[in-house]
Amino acid sequence: MTQHRKSIHGEWSSRLAFILAATGSAVGLGNIWKFPYITGENGGGAFVLVYLLCIALIGIPIMMAEILLGRRGRQSPINTMESLAEEAGRTPHWRLLGWAGVLGGFLILSYYSVIAGWALAYVVQTADGLFTGASAERVKTIFDDLVTNPGRLLFWHTLFMTMTMTVVARGVQSGLEQAVRFLMPTLFVLLVILVGYSMNTGAFAQGLDFLFTPDFHRLSWNSVLIAMGHAFFTLSLGMGAIMVYGSYLPKDASITQASFYIAGADTLVALMAGMVIFPIVFSNNLEPGAGPGLIFQTLPIAFGQMWGGAFFGTLFFVLLVFAAWTSSISLIEPAVAWLVENHSVSRVKASVVSGFVTWLVGVGTVLSFNKWSEVTFFGKTFFDLLDYITANIMLPLGGLAIAIFVAWLMKKRTAREELALPKGPGYSLWYFLIRYVSPAAVLIVFLNVIGVFKLG
Ligand code: PFF
Repeated sequence: MTQHRKSIHGEWSSRLAFILAATGSAVGLGNIWKFPYITGENGGGAFVLVYLLCIALIGIPIMMAEILLGRRGRQSPINTMESLAEEAGRTPHWRLLGWAGVLGGFLILSYYSVIAGWALAYVVQTADGLFTGASAERVKTIFDDLVTNPGRLLFWHTLFMTMTMTVVARGVQSGLEQAVRFLMPTLFVLLVILVGYSMNTGAFAQGLDFLFTPDFHRLSWNSVLIAMGHAFFTLSLGMGAIMVYGSYLPKDASITQASFYIAGADTLVALMAGMVIFPIVFSNNLEPGAGPGLIFQTLPIAFGQMWGGAFFGTLFFVLLVFAAWTSSISLIEPAVAWLVENHSVSRVKASVVSGFVTWLVGVGTVLSFNKWSEVTFFGKTFFDLLDYITANIMLPLGGLAIAIFVAWLMKKRTAREELALPKGPGYSLWYFLIRYVSPAAVLIVFLNVIGVFKLG
């Protein structure tokens, strides 16, 4: 019987370990780097509101579904989807959903690693005191010098990929469980300190206003798609990362509670990052829509001026690297688990192979910031295109397929058994959201963006 399966890769030592690991996957560059810059590019408050609605109405229900699939299947997402489809009397082609996830993970990690490389470079630069007393223009010059230099970017990208694959090769439980237990609380404390700094910039109210006062004139359907895509990205949904973590989850742990903790912590970190960054942006007359370089051009200004800034700044970028690190291992874990299961290779070999392929694709992103910056596809650079396709298309479609499978194709009893929710309003609400609301929302947003019909 499927419910007695155990993963061949082992199990988390406790429910807390799972929550920390999944939070480690969720909290990453998405919260601290991406959320502020896409909020800046998409006009602020209204975008944030849509994002929060997507987390509550689509993200949390799909996270519960993804974890329950993983725990039921107990294998890599490809094999999990195949065996659960068989269990439900459906076509084994559902394994393609697992394949799409593996592909998505490769593509995301390829550029994620390049950006994490920027953070690594900033650890060294901040520790060197490069930003001490620096003006906003000087900070921008330092950023431009980094990203226009392919050799330097390649060096940091290579280092970060090596760090990631080393952890993955050693197995998720040992190094990782320990690391997140310490890192996540420390990151949080540092963010609190930075919020304290931002409160004294003189533009805190303006920052909050930008973040929380919705102005719907600034919201397009494409912005809604980006907000929805980001809800998937930030919660690591729609590509099997949370599914594979769920497959290592002990049988008696509550999936519902865990999902709320993970989503809550993730949202809090993103909002705090916004509260740190926008006041600094406005008090230095910077542009909130500056794009991917935003935090790298704003935070160093704060660190350059505050007491002990070189120390706190270095610590901050170290933690940003750690946050990215705990996410990146979850991006590649579905592929590695599958290679181990189906090709009887060791974890080490599986990690080297998948890491190399990812690194190679990442070279495209490295070049898109300099030598290939003029090379565009559909008006987007290689990096922008990868980011757009993965976050805004692949993850929501993956999430849609998960919702359809769990709410429409799987036996109702199976889902209830895994969630272990008593019959009542909580279960009914989840079922309603996953069966109707999440799929409809994803579809409506998509159809609007591709112009099949127009709402407003
Ligand atoms: N959730 C991560 C972040 O916000 O940085 C990124 C991510 C990790 C996306 C794992 C998808 C994933 F499967």
